[in-house]
Amino acid sequence: MSIAKKIEKIIAGSSWIRKMFEEGTRLKAEHGAENVFDFSLGNPNQEPPEEFFKALRAEIDAKGPMRHAYMPNPGYPEVRRAVADYLSTEYAVDLTEGDIIMTCGAAGALNVALKTILDPGDEVITPAPYFVEYGAYASNHGGILKTAKTRPDFTLDIDAIAAAVTEKTKAVLINSPNNPTGQIYSEGSLKALGALLSEKGRALNRTIYLISDEPYRKIVYDGLQVPSFFSCYKESILATSYSKDLSIPGERIGFAAVHPEATYRKEIAGGMTLANRILGFVNAPGLMQRVVGAIQGVGVDVSAYARKRALICSGLSDCGYEFVQPPGAFYLFPKSPIPDDVEFVKLLQEELILAVPGSGFGGPGHFRLAFCVDDNTIVNAMPGFRRVIDKIKS
Ligand SMILES: Cc1ncc(COP(=O)(O)O)c(C=O)c1O
Repeated sequence: MSIAKKIEKIIAGSSWIRKMFEEGTRLKAEHGAENVFDFSLGNPNQEPPEEFFKALRAEIDAKGPMRHAYMPNPGYPEVRRAVADYLSTEYAVDLTEGDIIMTCGAAGALNVALKTILDPGDEVITPAPYFVEYGAYASNHGGILKTAKTRPDFTLDIDAIAAAVTEKTKAVLINSPNNPTGQIYSEGSLKALGALLSEKGRALNRTIYLISDEPYRKIVYDGLQVPSFFSCYKESILATSYSKDLSIPGERIGFAAVHPEATYRKEIAGGMTLANRILGFVNAPGLMQRVVGAIQGVGVDVSAYARKRALICSGLSDCGYEFVQPPGAFYLFPKSPIPDDVEFVKLLQEELILAVPGSGFGGPGHFRLAFCVDDNTIVNAMPGFRRVIDKIKS
């Protein structure tokens, strides 16, 4: 092969996910897309809010010198100011435009953050199950992803994180609300995590960063709120995007924010600005920066996802599936009725239901369903879900 061994290995390692995707495409071609129940992708199915289109139209009609020119690498100052103002209330810390770097989605934010802090061989700890790309993101910048188990309900296990810390630990990377489990980490657990990282950092004489990946922050149910991790630990970086809460993942817009009291605040912001440039992003899309800057605080109608959550939870529970009801995001992570989750996902495919094995997220024995789909997809898939579990139990 004439491509890098590292890339070859990543491609080979994810081949069953690719196979599943290809199988889904084949099934849709054979049976018609409407007859295949696709829960495999976290692609929000709601339209963006009307405010988004209004701001977009206004931006498209606006003309002026240098509106589509290169800009400062961290983004337009007025947009970063708008983001900082909004976040200061949302997270109860005083952020300024200098703390914000506009990025190409949360993925871009995570990569500029990791590029900024990691030296070769540094370790990044993440609670498992976790977003499948984290391993590649850490490795992109010479880092090594290590996992720490969570509790049976997927909440943080602080002892497991403590046990995973070594003299090479540079960061703990959390994601709340979580993909794939939907779990939200409580304020108490974030405070305990902050205390642990302060203590370990002192003992090891190095700063251990907390990076929080929060693209699902606004997609929460039952009146819950995601606590501010910034209030729990100052050596911290937020990575997030508008992909899910404005339903615009294709537009690639998000940001990274550094805690205003972080010891190396200026260096981190400067490093992320440089990383935005040298990773080849240069800057986040200009048009989208101005659009999101104008509609801070606007989000999609979460009640539609709440309805889908209720439909899928009651349907699967009636069939006999076991799961933790997700307090946020739009994923369900039920237990596989047989130990081999890849095998179970194949059984679902025979019923034209597409799901992702939990093994792909470091959560074997489970499978992930993205319920950001039409209500009809959920309702019409239920007989298939029932046939599969009945067959296993009979
Ligand atoms: C947990 C998590 N982090 C990051 C991302 C990447 O988000 P974006 O599309 O904004 O880059 C996703 C996308 O699904 C995600 O689920």
